[in-house]
Amino acid sequence: MRMVKVPLGNRSYNILFGHGLLARLGAECSKLKLGQRCVVISDRNVAPRFAKAAQRSLAVAGFNSFLITVPAGETVKSLKSVQACYDQLAKHRLERKSFIVALGGGVVGDLAGFAAATYLRGIDYVQVPTTLLAQVDSSVGGKVGVNLKAGKNLVGAFYQPRAVFCDFDTLRTLPEREYRAGVAEIIKYGIIYDAALFRQLEREMPKLLKRDGKILADVVARCCEIKSDVVAQDETESGVRAILNFGHTIGHALEAVSGYGKYLHGEAISIGQVAAARLSTQLTGLPAADADRITKLFRSARLPIKVKLNPAQIGKLCAAMKLDKKVSAGEVKFVLARKIGKVEFGKNVPLDLIRETLNP
Ligand SMILES: NC(=O)c1ccc[n+]([C@@H]2O[C@H](COP(=O)([O-])OP(=O)(O)OC[C@H]3O[C@@H](n4cnc5c(N)ncnc54)[C@H](O)[C@@H]3O)[C@@H](O)[C@H]2O)c1
Ligand SMILES: [Zn+2]
Repeated sequence: MRMVKVPLGNRSYNILFGHGLLARLGAECSKLKLGQRCVVISDRNVAPRFAKAAQRSLAVAGFNSFLITVPAGETVKSLKSVQACYDQLAKHRLERKSFIVALGGGVVGDLAGFAAATYLRGIDYVQVPTTLLAQVDSSVGGKVGVNLKAGKNLVGAFYQPRAVFCDFDTLRTLPEREYRAGVAEIIKYGIIYDAALFRQLEREMPKLLKRDGKILADVVARCCEIKSDVVAQDETESGVRAILNFGHTIGHALEAVSGYGKYLHGEAISIGQVAAARLSTQLTGLPAADADRITKLFRSARLPIKVKLNPAQIGKLCAAMKLDKKVSAGEVKFVLARKIGKVEFGKNVPLDLIRETLNP
């Protein structure tokens, strides 16, 4: 079994990777000295597949678990759902020492993590990510929260899990489109931090898309290592953690203006990353050949690389970008690349140039 540590002082935790991890969930939780009562929060796609195995394993290890099943999809990341979770947590008499198991993709992780961060002023939680995106990104780093009508993730907290369990077996049932959306975040790590990973993806994309066990294990662990590295340097995003948002300024705005649900998060940030690469050639000296390699890699993962927008839609997109959390003093701040593997954050980008890039 592989392991990556997220070193954050007394909030440090381990990310465990492997096959058949779900069956060991209870035993691993026992090592964390968690309370005896817990609630597994999952969604309607994931719960029927994996909740039983998780609860069985918890029971064998002596935990008393209850299941909360929420609807699937981005719209469940709302304050209304958080309220419904609180009511269930209270009903099942979860106390300060109890814990939550977030079993699902990034939506469940963000929602359950936010419930854990706030219920009784904070109880423990562990992440059991079941999507590729959640395994390489959302389950690590402690960002939890929900959406408002005004924008994505506008209410939330930094609240670290006690452990993350990435069971590769759960990925077998993930729909193809969701899997590819996760690949978009994997490519991001190559661009922002690791040229060797980027080259590996250029070589092995077909294998990765086929969910080849070895490359999957390698790549997921490497992405978590990178995320851990970045989060350890800057847990609350006052600086370098912003690099994880490469492609996200445009991506989030695209998700907001097209109504949550049209584009998957990973698809929206594919378009966002390709646009950010183009902006980088103009503003931070990214060689045009590197921008082409970036576009090509997203295309080889069969991810969308552009979007057709009319001027009115572009106007809306720019307005949505100004609402994003990455805005300070009214300026839209971007992460831009110098070369593959090296980015800069906090770059001002004129709105005109964004318009031009989106509508060449
Ligand atoms: N907290 C963070 O740092 C962070 C980082 C990146 C993304 N996010 C958030 O993550 C969310 C996206 O996460 P996601 O892409 O995992 O989406 P998701 O949680 O909606 O899961 C995608 C779909 O796959 C289904 N599913 C999940 N696991 C499955 C499995 N093993 N087999 C079959 N179906 C399965 C889900 O029910 C859902 O329908 C967004 O809300 C985004 O804002 C958060
Ligand atoms: Zn993302």
